[in-house]
Amino acid sequence: MSPRRRSSTASDPAAHAAAPEAADTAQQAQQLRAALERANHRYYALDDPEIADDAYDGLLDALRRLEAEHPELRTEDSPTQRVGAEPVSRLQKVAHLEPMLSLPNARTPEELRQWVTRMRTHLAREGIDDPAIEYVVEPKVDGLAISLVYRNGVLQRGATRGNGEIGEDVTHNLRTITSIPQRIEHAPELVEIRGEVYMSLHDFAALNERRAEAGESTFMNPRNSAAGTIRQLDPKLAAQRPLSFSAYQVGVSEGLELSTHWEALEWMAGHGFPVNRDVELKRDEEDVIAQCQSWEKRRGSLDFEIDGAVVKLSDLALQRRLGSVGRDPRWAVAWKFAPTTAVTRLQKIAWNVGRSGDLHPYAMLEPVHVGGVTIKLATLHNEEDLRRKDIRPGEDVIVLRAGDVIPQVISPAPHVAEHKRRPPRPRPPARCPFCDTETVKPDGAVFTQCPNRDCPERRWQLLKHFCSRGGMDIAGLGDKQVAMLLRRRLVSTPADFYALSEEQLLGLERFAESSVRNLLAAIDQSRQRPFARVLFALGIEEVGEVTAQSLASHFGDIDALLAAPAEAIAEVAGIGSKTAAVLREALDDDGMRALIAALRQAGLKFEQGGLAATDGPLVGKVFVLTGTLPKLSREQAAERVRSAGGRVSSSVSQKTDYLVVGDSPGSKLAKAERLGVAVVDEAQLLALLDH
Ligand code: IVH
Repeated sequence: MSPRRRSSTASDPAAHAAAPEAADTAQQAQQLRAALERANHRYYALDDPEIADDAYDGLLDALRRLEAEHPELRTEDSPTQRVGAEPVSRLQKVAHLEPMLSLPNARTPEELRQWVTRMRTHLAREGIDDPAIEYVVEPKVDGLAISLVYRNGVLQRGATRGNGEIGEDVTHNLRTITSIPQRIEHAPELVEIRGEVYMSLHDFAALNERRAEAGESTFMNPRNSAAGTIRQLDPKLAAQRPLSFSAYQVGVSEGLELSTHWEALEWMAGHGFPVNRDVELKRDEEDVIAQCQSWEKRRGSLDFEIDGAVVKLSDLALQRRLGSVGRDPRWAVAWKFAPTTAVTRLQKIAWNVGRSGDLHPYAMLEPVHVGGVTIKLATLHNEEDLRRKDIRPGEDVIVLRAGDVIPQVISPAPHVAEHKRRPPRPRPPARCPFCDTETVKPDGAVFTQCPNRDCPERRWQLLKHFCSRGGMDIAGLGDKQVAMLLRRRLVSTPADFYALSEEQLLGLERFAESSVRNLLAAIDQSRQRPFARVLFALGIEEVGEVTAQSLASHFGDIDALLAAPAEAIAEVAGIGSKTAAVLREALDDDGMRALIAALRQAGLKFEQGGLAATDGPLVGKVFVLTGTLPKLSREQAAERVRSAGGRVSSSVSQKTDYLVVGDSPGSKLAKAERLGVAVVDEAQLLALLDH
């Protein structure tokens, strides 16, 4: 995780425990949100996670704690309030029939017992005293959650989980998976099957071998490989990559009577769905714990990766009575395996330069086998992280591969304490490793920086970010192509992409005539990306995807944003006054102004509403949504408003026409009342839409 610039706390949840002042607390919350937003983007949009699940959970817990202590800091778009992250791609979006939930975690027998106690207490409150409970224990396969909808026995649609409410339609790729039945016999009218799509270890190894032989890049791990495959646009590609499926839940159904989850598993197995054979039914909590531990022991001998075990209450009526808290069901829990660690030699600390010039350290390790993979590199957050961990090149260190993502260096190996003379502490380089400019560390900054705006590495990072999936999403402009264009001096700022010509590109290696045409078409198409994406693509340090979206809907166009004083920016939901000040400074920068002007000249969208309908009953009306609506999710309501021509903003101001309120509306209601903004409920909104 790359912590935000002005503090190290985003990378260190523990540091949040002692939050001294209100302003600091607000800033911490903002930093945590920014860090989580970035992690979500990497995980969901790019399938390229940057931090381990454990680290992610640590951040989320820290934010939850902070928000619980200071409810006024809770924003509507806080990662704690969402089911997941927004899906990003060109696949069709589909609404799930019922939200796809996630799972709370238990890491120790004690936490599992506490989960049982919480469940029993809740049931007792509902008048169900001391019920006999049956638990089902399943492996938690590390792949991707999928929902399959069968109508009258025919597979109609398959979708990824997405943000839990809206997923992506990947039916075309799921049809290539042989273990997913296209048709089921003796089927009810409607049945939704949920399960995990994954790649087995032997299929993964064979695929990577084939790719290496063909000179193609290899996949990091089976999960990324499955995720990348399932989101392909072309099913022929998916068909060449062997995926498997494991069914673990019957979702929505009509005409199917099931009373327990165990029966649901049997029903699925009986109708041709692959259900893990070693799933077990237990009555005693201690047996449940033993079963979880037994999965942990078997982990290394399986032909697929698992990152835990899942314990579910079998009785479906009790499940319904228990319900869920936010995105976590009360009736199920994930037993997370202890992270895997190993000891190896730290060969060197090397440094990357980010687009804003920050130098990020990372560890180069003697290759070591951890949790099923060989690792050579590990992330380190910043200099403070290095100092706190006190690791030194030339000594042994403990590395951790938690949640099966990016490995982290934890500390020196225990025996290092016996060293009489330790090697010197690593320091950030005095000169930028890429452009040799003298590095600087401004007062109060967390990162040493390369101050050279022309640094090739900084430029590359910025240009890559601009073309990336969450940004302008220009197909054909991957890391390598961008590096080459930069080397050939065909581009130096993002605006240069829009001036590229066929003649310039045709001579270049790996650019056949057709790919040049495709690339130029893709660049041209990117002019249609909505304002929020353009704002994100600009690469301003504080502006992640969610913030970009909030800024775009709040200000409506770039001129309003450029003219807004910091105080006005701070009114946007999720942006604190410090971030607003930093943002203000970034927007006032001459280089940024020149870039915006050039991109505007190139025809990019600098105003909201590219997608909004230009007619409809709500044209010109500004809506703010708050609280939980009875029928529609917030996103669905916003979509309805937009397609009727209205605009959705994240905070109430003089410009707001309607505040739509649901349950537990929070401070927005008071503000709307103060400003005399019309307040409507969902039914009234629906009536407005119908006009
Ligand atoms: S049950 C409410 N069962 O774990 C029930 N999930 O955080 C939610 N997963 O995204 C899911 N194996 O991809 C369930 N046997 C299993 C599972 C499983 C893997 C994944 C699933 C989901 C995540 C939950």
